[in-house]
Amino acid sequence: MRKFWLWFMILCFVVGGFGVCVAQEKESEFIIFHYWTAGGEKEAIDALFKLYAERNPNVKIVENPVAGGGGETMLAVLMSNLAAGIPPDSFQDHQGNQQKDYIDAGYLEAVDDIWAQANFEARINPMWVKTLKFGGHVYSVPINAHRTNWLWYNKKMFEELGIKVPENYDDLLAACQKIKEAKPEVAPLALGTREKVWSTYLYDMVLLTTGGPDFYEKANTGRIDFLNDATFRQAMERYAALIPYIYPWHATKSWDEAGALLKTGEAAMYWMGDWILGYYLAIGMQPEVDFSVTAIPGDIWMGHADTFPLPKGAPHPSNARDWILMCTTPEAQKAFNLIKGSVTIVNDVPFDVYPDPYRKRSAQDLAKLRAVCDGFHGGMITPAFGSELMDILTRFLVDKDVDAAIKSIAEAAERTKLAEACSWFWE
Ligand code: GAL
Repeated sequence: MRKFWLWFMILCFVVGGFGVCVAQEKESEFIIFHYWTAGGEKEAIDALFKLYAERNPNVKIVENPVAGGGGETMLAVLMSNLAAGIPPDSFQDHQGNQQKDYIDAGYLEAVDDIWAQANFEARINPMWVKTLKFGGHVYSVPINAHRTNWLWYNKKMFEELGIKVPENYDDLLAACQKIKEAKPEVAPLALGTREKVWSTYLYDMVLLTTGGPDFYEKANTGRIDFLNDATFRQAMERYAALIPYIYPWHATKSWDEAGALLKTGEAAMYWMGDWILGYYLAIGMQPEVDFSVTAIPGDIWMGHADTFPLPKGAPHPSNARDWILMCTTPEAQKAFNLIKGSVTIVNDVPFDVYPDPYRKRSAQDLAKLRAVCDGFHGGMITPAFGSELMDILTRFLVDKDVDAAIKSIAEAAERTKLAEACSWFWE
């Protein structure tokens, strides 16, 4: 009998020990999906990996970088993995409907305790809380704030042609006309629609500059009568008026390749979020020499956040939670945003850490101006409506048919139940 107990205890020890080993083995990786593969953004995520490796020297980071700006390709891969029950430990996400779809499908775990531990809610603009908290719970931590109502321009060309820096839509159109007349070989506006999502950024811009922020929020949550709304029609007419000035081969370019047209002088202006700033700095363009930027409208901060959620059933949950917790720290936020082109989402990193004037301004503006979310990445619109909108707008970029576009948008909003799906925004 004594022998039995002895063997039993040895067995427990071996099995128990093995169990611990298996648990440690299980926790020795951190698997993450992201699509930061272009210049600037790749270096930014690498800076976060470096910090994480210092905190967790025994954890192997397994990254799955899926190229394709805006995440079009990665999201398809990720969605099928989530549906198949093989989630990563975290992934690159946004907010609003872009996150709510995962929550509604039961794919995410709340991280309320991490927010509480980091006193996170008190450190960010209320607009982020509104678009990240669902049913009283939060499921991710945002690492940055990307401004998207930026118009980047080739500074030398503007000086050479004596062009007034645009402050509103009319100035922008006038600048397009002037550039076209003076330099017919130059495309006044750069654009890259190899990933169709970038056509929606001009859509956001015309909604915001035509109807103002309240109209913008209503339109992007399906609370207007698309078919009959006069302001919406005017916004689409304004979009159509810009089309002749857009780089004609936009379908062949990614967002960064389109941005590079300002460097080669093939294009003069670019309506794009400030990840392009990370790219410009990475390719050695000099702020205020080679390029500059203007916010339109100047009294609104429009943009979105990149967030890291915690998937349910993450294979290495404590590593995942440590990553998410790390992202709440000023240190991690600063390391990432100094390279990414965005600003920290937390308000406890001073404005003057940024070497260029654009991020100083973005951080200051975010603290004091009205902030609105992007339609697509900010998750004001739903992925279902967004994917139809991208197709409609890429067609519109070719046929410039305002009536057809308005009709298709109205039908898509109806079919995808946009207003109903966005009701959380108004609660
Ligand atoms: C956005 C993302 C940015 C930037 C951009 C281009 O969706 O939020 O961080 O990476 O795409 O890929």
